[in-house]
Amino acid sequence: MAARILDGNAIRDEIYGELAGEIASLAAAGIRPGLAAVLVGDNPASRVYVKSKIAACEKLGLASIQVTPPATISTAELLAVVQDLNRRDDVDGILVQLPLPPQVDAKKILDAVDPAKDVDGFHPINVGHLVAGRPTLVACTPSGVMEIFRRSAILLEGANAVVLGRSDIVGKPMALLLMHANATVTICHSKTRNLPEVIRRADIVVAALGRAGMVTPEFVRPGATVIDVGINRISDPAQAENFFAHFPERLAAFREKGTALVGDVHPDVAGVAGAITPVPGGVGPLTIAMLMSNTIKAARLRRGSRASASVPAVAAVPR
Ligand code: GUN
Repeated sequence: MAARILDGNAIRDEIYGELAGEIASLAAAGIRPGLAAVLVGDNPASRVYVKSKIAACEKLGLASIQVTPPATISTAELLAVVQDLNRRDDVDGILVQLPLPPQVDAKKILDAVDPAKDVDGFHPINVGHLVAGRPTLVACTPSGVMEIFRRSAILLEGANAVVLGRSDIVGKPMALLLMHANATVTICHSKTRNLPEVIRRADIVVAALGRAGMVTPEFVRPGATVIDVGINRISDPAQAENFFAHFPERLAAFREKGTALVGDVHPDVAGVAGAITPVPGGVGPLTIAMLMSNTIKAARLRRGSRASASVPAVAAVPR
């Protein structure tokens, strides 16, 4: 296995070390940044994600609150929840965990979040700032991927970068960040023709399609950097045999547990790529780290003169 493993947990720890300094200087100014997480209903995956986000706040010493309305909530009722959080001075960041139940108009809810508290970077105002090249609060997963590139000294300028997936949460902002870093960016999606050919031209592949093991070794140019944003749970033994044929420990763990988490990139790609993020332990930890960074940034921006106006330790774009 040739590829350098890009260790998301180690990069997250490095970022947390920097954020701790930020938090201490805010504390000296009497400010404790606070995050509000809205978890609607009882989607098990969402519950795990929100729990990890709250745990990260606790680890770093940020304040956090959780609001957990029932799955039957209406759009109007959820709007009232968001508006209440918008008004609260102790809340610097608001995150509404997705997906929302089908009766809720998700766009209306996300648009109601005060852009100054939009730590997910989903509000059209913040997306617009990113498009304009003046990023404020940027979506956490793509900005976490940029931190991986920056802290692993992966050169973006002039590189051919292929983004697989065009979601509002990952694909679109990822492509913009790469473009602003002077990569030549191609965005692929379900209708893209000759996908393997396009991927094979890439120096950098960011896979965010949500399809387990979709990127196989034949797709990848030897030496390419491969970032795997996918998190898929598999439970089919035949699929696990295929995924983990060269990873006996992972196969044994699957047999014991009956499930495993895999990315959008087949593990065998590690034999071809120059550098690769594992799943789990690659991009995932950075998503939460950037949520923490955005919460601190939002506290600084919103509480203005009480906090020093210096740039946050963790930049959303490469320097
Ligand atoms: N669901 C999946 N990813 C995300 C994310 O980054 N933020 C929120 N709020 N919900 C999600």
